[in-house]
Amino acid sequence: MANVNNLGLTLEQLARLTVVDHPLVQHKLSILRDEQTGTKQFRDLVRELALFEGYEATRDFELEPVQVKTPLEECTCQHLAGKKVAIVPILRAGLGMVDGILDLIPAARVGHVGMERDPKTHEPHEYYCKLPPDVEQRTCLIVDPMLATGGSATAAIQYLRDAGVRDIRLLVLVAAPEGVRAVLDFDPDVRLYTCALDRELNGSAYILPGLGDAGDRIFGTR
Ligand code: URA
Repeated sequence: MANVNNLGLTLEQLARLTVVDHPLVQHKLSILRDEQTGTKQFRDLVRELALFEGYEATRDFELEPVQVKTPLEECTCQHLAGKKVAIVPILRAGLGMVDGILDLIPAARVGHVGMERDPKTHEPHEYYCKLPPDVEQRTCLIVDPMLATGGSATAAIQYLRDAGVRDIRLLVLVAAPEGVRAVLDFDPDVRLYTCALDRELNGSAYILPGLGDAGDRIFGTR
């Protein structure tokens, strides 16, 4: 596995990278990687890991005081200060992470970004995109289990920036060093969350050791 200190990131970029290394996350990720893990369990684990990661990625959400009357007395408590959120899965594997985040933030809106790579230019381009109408007022959590070259992720970030979104957080489960550098170099404000930093990409842009094709494993299409 890669070490966060060997990625050649600046201190400012390191501050925008969070590796969610909680023991439960690492345990579940090991099962996720196992080639013997079947479709249902894989899907369930992607959802659970997205929930854990969503918990970390919302840690700085602001609170405001609220008066609550318990059965014994009134007290001042805290509730969320009404930050509006959109979850934006990159199709198709990102869909597997949506429900885990919705478990945490049930009122979040869900946009979709479909990117495919042009076979000649190798540049990603959008084939389907639909965002909530007030997306520019929302914190956008882009979700995609695998961050490989960073091509789709940077295209999705650009799409959201063009739509006026200011607060963008990218949540992936497994990242290659190449993708981490590409994303943090591309956008000076995006924050990146991953459960694992893997070693490298192979010649077909699969992450090593990785977990194979996340979309195929979530949808049972391999
Ligand atoms: N997408 C995947 O699903 N797996 C990889 O290893 C890389 C990109």
